[in-house]
Amino acid sequence: MLLRNIPGLYVLNMAEQVPPRLCWQCSLYESAMLLDAPLPHAPDLLSVLREATAPSHARLDDAFGALALNQRDGIARFLRAHAIGMAQLYPPVRDFMRRELGLICPDYPAMLRADLDALGEPELDAGDVSLKQDETGAAAGISYVVTGSRLGLTVIRQRGYWGEAEGFRSAYMEDGAERAGWKALVPWLRARGDDPSERDGARAAALESFDIFARAFAASAADDIARQDAHG
Ligand code: HEM
Repeated sequence: MLLRNIPGLYVLNMAEQVPPRLCWQCSLYESAMLLDAPLPHAPDLLSVLREATAPSHARLDDAFGALALNQRDGIARFLRAHAIGMAQLYPPVRDFMRRELGLICPDYPAMLRADLDALGEPELDAGDVSLKQDETGAAAGISYVVTGSRLGLTVIRQRGYWGEAEGFRSAYMEDGAERAGWKALVPWLRARGDDPSERDGARAAALESFDIFARAFAASAADDIARQDAHG
């Protein structure tokens, strides 16, 4: 009876991604002991976030990837979209990096503002702050998205972007500290994942952060249209 029930328990727990119950008699995990299987454990927080947000990243990658960054309008829109998204996402990331990683987060909003000023772009409306930041794990999820978003800039820099010949050098694109934040965040995330509420909070906040960037991308296009109308 006991043996017949244990595999079911094991499968259920794997599906739920929670560890199996401890045996009350011997303090070993029931299912692993009886099935001679490796101990299942909750995936670490980095794996959780990677898996949950992979489709969101692919969509955003396609959207930003379609911009002609070798033209002024393309790079201006890229920076506008990042500025709109970052206005919401930056404060919790800055606080998380200082508190948990002991790092000073580069001032991305200021860099973006300087870049947009240099291009003669007007002030942006960042919209309402809708992000829930106080749930357990939320700041970690937001930091994963913002810190990870810096990695793609390496690729963009290698490809080159509009402005170098015209004397424009983007502070946001060229900031070299991106790897430091990511290198510190990865082991932090790798060491977590056991607390279900932290996991859920981080996953939800990471997904919402990707959505914020997606909405920012759309809003930056609306801005283009408004400008064309005003001039036209
Ligand atoms: C706002 C837009 C973007 C966001 C929020 C974002 C977010 C992320 C995140 C969270 C990661 C870490 C993934 C992981 O290893 O777990 C990442 C990595 C990466 N992203 Fe993006 N991304 C964005 C745009 C882009 C774009 C446009 C490109 C294409 C040029 C790109 C290329 C990459 C690459 C190549 C990596 C892996 C870098 C490495 O492992 O060294 N991303 N991004």
